[in-house]
Amino acid sequence: MKKIVIAVHGGAGPDSALIRENIEAYQSGLEDALSAGHSILKKGGSSVDAVEAAINMLENNPLFNAGRGSVLNEHAQVEMDASIMNGLDLNCGAVSVVQQVKNPVTLARAIMEKSSHIYLGNSGALAFARQQGLELRPDAYFITEYNYNQYEEEAQHQTANPGDAGERQARRKDHGTVGAVALDEYGNLAAATSTGGLENKTSGRIADSSMIGVGTYADNKVCAVSCTGDGEYLMQHVAGFHLHAIMEYKGMPIVDACNYLIHDRCKAVEGDMGLIAIDPSGTVAFAFNSERMHRGWRINDEPSEVSIYPE
Ligand code: GLY
Repeated sequence: MKKIVIAVHGGAGPDSALIRENIEAYQSGLEDALSAGHSILKKGGSSVDAVEAAINMLENNPLFNAGRGSVLNEHAQVEMDASIMNGLDLNCGAVSVVQQVKNPVTLARAIMEKSSHIYLGNSGALAFARQQGLELRPDAYFITEYNYNQYEEEAQHQTANPGDAGERQARRKDHGTVGAVALDEYGNLAAATSTGGLENKTSGRIADSSMIGVGTYADNKVCAVSCTGDGEYLMQHVAGFHLHAIMEYKGMPIVDACNYLIHDRCKAVEGDMGLIAIDPSGTVAFAFNSERMHRGWRINDEPSEVSIYPE
């Protein structure tokens, strides 16, 4: 059998009581995502199918900040972002600020395959999802009690401390994103990323997770990568394509390239940054500068590995 590999992340950021109290549930959520991707690859399915299936599992799991379980914006609304890229032909699709779509990464894939564009946003993206017959859900489906309480806590803090926006960034605790990269038996790489973004974000704010070259990039010749963390910093450093460029132009191996990008090139960054990546030989690599990054991978039929904290 040719090598098949799936790797996922469930967000890089600060540790929190929510995470510590639900470690086993987070680990099994990562295992479920790996298993969804692995079973597709094992049957000879494509890396694009595998990353979509893995991300759908995480989007449907309310513990992760994507799809159901997305954090709320300043108006207590969910606004989601996602993207997907096929390393075979550089085809890609992306969606930003979308509501009601159960699986934003599936919408990103529909944009990639069934529209003449790459990137749709907001009401146009929702209209395209309707036209394509994608599953929609009422707003309440996406909102967990935990995320609503977080929103209320922040809203009360803002009322008591008007204009305290700088502090707000520091109080954000559970931001995350989900992502997947895969290598299929035909040697094709794919990457995808999906997020609810940042807690109490300004309405209309767009995450790196929907940006090709920032949150997501895949090229069969070099690597597939999905990023997580504070999107504004990932955008400043064009993280996904930056990794690709280090590998292609400097010839740096993937493990060294991930570490160089996060811990050397971006070492002065004061926000959270993390990524998972895979190269054409199926080597999996990751790096993060945060207290934790939920992550896991499975190579061929070997047992899967999942972790949350630094080794
Ligand atoms: N990386 C996800 C976000 O910034 O929203």
